[in-house]
Amino acid sequence: MLESLDTIKTIALSELQKTSDMKTLRLWYSTHLSKSSQLIKSLRNLSNVAAKDRPTIGKHANDIRKILEQAYEDRTSYLNKSVESPGHKHIALDVTLPGRSLNRGRLHIATQTLRRIYTIWADMGFQIYRSREIETDELNFELLNIPLHHPARDMWDTFHTNSPGVILRTHTSPGQIHAMQANAPDPIRVILPGMCYRYEQITARSEIQFNQVEGLAIGTNIRFTDLKGTLSDFARRMFGTSTRTRFRASHFPFTEPSAEMDIECFLCSGEGCRVCKKTGWLEILGCGMVHPAVLTNGGYEPKKYTGFAFGMGPERIAMLKYGIDDIRHFWGNDLRFLEQF
Ligand code: DAH
Repeated sequence: MLESLDTIKTIALSELQKTSDMKTLRLWYSTHLSKSSQLIKSLRNLSNVAAKDRPTIGKHANDIRKILEQAYEDRTSYLNKSVESPGHKHIALDVTLPGRSLNRGRLHIATQTLRRIYTIWADMGFQIYRSREIETDELNFELLNIPLHHPARDMWDTFHTNSPGVILRTHTSPGQIHAMQANAPDPIRVILPGMCYRYEQITARSEIQFNQVEGLAIGTNIRFTDLKGTLSDFARRMFGTSTRTRFRASHFPFTEPSAEMDIECFLCSGEGCRVCKKTGWLEILGCGMVHPAVLTNGGYEPKKYTGFAFGMGPERIAMLKYGIDDIRHFWGNDLRFLEQF
């Protein structure tokens, strides 16, 4: 008898969980707690039970009735709440709501600038030539006409590795030697992009890592006028068709003669502003005719072959173009900066 009361309880409670509205709830009540229900009937028929068992069984049946009544009330108020806010269940499934949009990634501003530069040079017939970031002292300096202990090395504070003579490249210029040695004596038109490293104090103007895009053209009858024309054309494609350029004499050990190219300030059109420091001109790159010693090191006979080279900093170009006042933003990984481009 006790067991069958427990079974009634188990079944009733499990069926109660399945009720989903007032109608099914009422049905449940009449099955499990109405006068005609098994439980209530067994309470009524206690007189049929042996007198000694009557108190135990009576108490047990009554306890179960109380439990079921409480459960019924709980279920009633639970279902009432769901009825009061019919949208409640919907919200999680409302397919008409706009979705949560994913954060879209974007290309880093340095990559965007690099790609723009690649496109322009590709249009002018220059191929991209990749070269290693871990270099030898020989290629980074010596073969570029910068001997050991030469004061020109002071221009490139260098990261050394534990292996003697192995360094992080301080500029993309050693790629010139790789490209020449791989192609001599064929003509070359390449750009050599990539990361460079300098052991410098980090300031708003200098970082320990930055990109450069080197350029190299080797062939016969290449002259300084070719250098000027090609680089001026680059400037017009990069900064606008009316961009004017000027070349100032400079010095780099691997070129002779050497120059620096300025473009007319695109913010003030040469009138003088904060960005061009009132000069009307912005320095964009270093360049020159490949030094005969470098041609020889690359495998080209300097009497027969000539060429020009240049090196520019894409981050610097982006800084000028977008008015970025601190180069440290580029590798600081701050989304507030990166998401602006
Ligand atoms: N390598 C130089 C630097 O890092 C930039 C440069 C100047 C590259 C003149 C050249 C060049 O190819 O001709 O400062």
